[in-house]
Amino acid sequence: MLAGAGLVTFAGAGFVASQSPGLGELARANGLTFGAAVQGGLLGKDADYAATFVRETAIVVPEYEAKWATLQPAPGRFDLRPLDAVLRWARANSKPVRGHTLVWHTDMPPWLLAAIAESPARARAVLGAQIGAVLDYTQGQIRDWDVVNEVIADPAGSDTPQTEPGDLRASPWLAALGPSYIETALRMARERDPLLRLTLNDYGIEEDTPAAAEKRRRLLALVRDLLSRGVPLDAVGLQGHLQIAKPFNPAVLTAFIKELRDAGVAVLVTELDVRESWDAPQDLAARDALVAERTYAFVSTALAAGVRTVLTWGLSEKYSWLLTEPGVAMPDQRTHRGLPFNAEWRRTPMWDALARAFAGR
Ligand code: XIL
Repeated sequence: MLAGAGLVTFAGAGFVASQSPGLGELARANGLTFGAAVQGGLLGKDADYAATFVRETAIVVPEYEAKWATLQPAPGRFDLRPLDAVLRWARANSKPVRGHTLVWHTDMPPWLLAAIAESPARARAVLGAQIGAVLDYTQGQIRDWDVVNEVIADPAGSDTPQTEPGDLRASPWLAALGPSYIETALRMARERDPLLRLTLNDYGIEEDTPAAAEKRRRLLALVRDLLSRGVPLDAVGLQGHLQIAKPFNPAVLTAFIKELRDAGVAVLVTELDVRESWDAPQDLAARDALVAERTYAFVSTALAAGVRTVLTWGLSEKYSWLLTEPGVAMPDQRTHRGLPFNAEWRRTPMWDALARAFAGR
């Protein structure tokens, strides 16, 4: 009896949700773009997942299908099928696709680590082959790529501070080619496809902590240096993996976005989700309210500062890295509520916060 009543309520809520416009449509009505990271493999497996992406997004980004280990698992052996599944779905559903990501310090297959350590010449050749093959394949459908991801070193006081000196991440690419690997990748991408929007994407730059301030300084210095030397770069992606435990100050984010835009790049929010504090309240409504409050503060500030595109990293906590990634997942039995849908595909208060921010309310 009770279970039956619950079922009716759930079906009713789902029906209502499916009738009202999704975040993509709400954003578009205000000249904005909303989207989310998608996993191609789930689109054919989970009908709720696919329906929610169709209804809610106006752009998607493959969550892992365009990373190196998936695209080129062995030297010269490209596997474009996982990415192609996303691209085909996106074409069928008229969704633009962002690319993520050509150069990253992680998700590098063992052969790649060995190859780029051989010599700078080999490292450049391998980089060029990857960028060439991938951009040729996605040309026309992906207009926007995270060419370099997470290249700034995490300063002292960060969650994962870098012990090696330097403002750039001590990545295998830095070891192989020195700081020039960033501009090499950007130039290769521009040469291959002159119409691409070339983006530099990073995290740990959104909040009001001394470590984030130092990371912002490093990122701005890099962007200004690249642009001053004529290196092609069109946009900076703020990943937006927010943490409620860290203070947020709208004035600080506004100033940073303004500095980036004044330097000459567009600014996007590319991977928004919210990690709850480990001492979050037990009451679910109270937790949801905190997540919604932080989301609204961050997104409304970013939009007021000139951001036009916002993507969340997934749509539902059902499949989020927030639940599974060590160091990200909550340490107790609870799971982060940091996305616009819960595991039952119901809109969370974070959904409302995004809708309100897009509407400028
Ligand atoms: C994460 C994915 O969500 C995981 O499924 C995967 O195992 C590791 O990568 N910053 C990024 C994303 O730029 O590519 C990461 O995605 C999350 C952090």
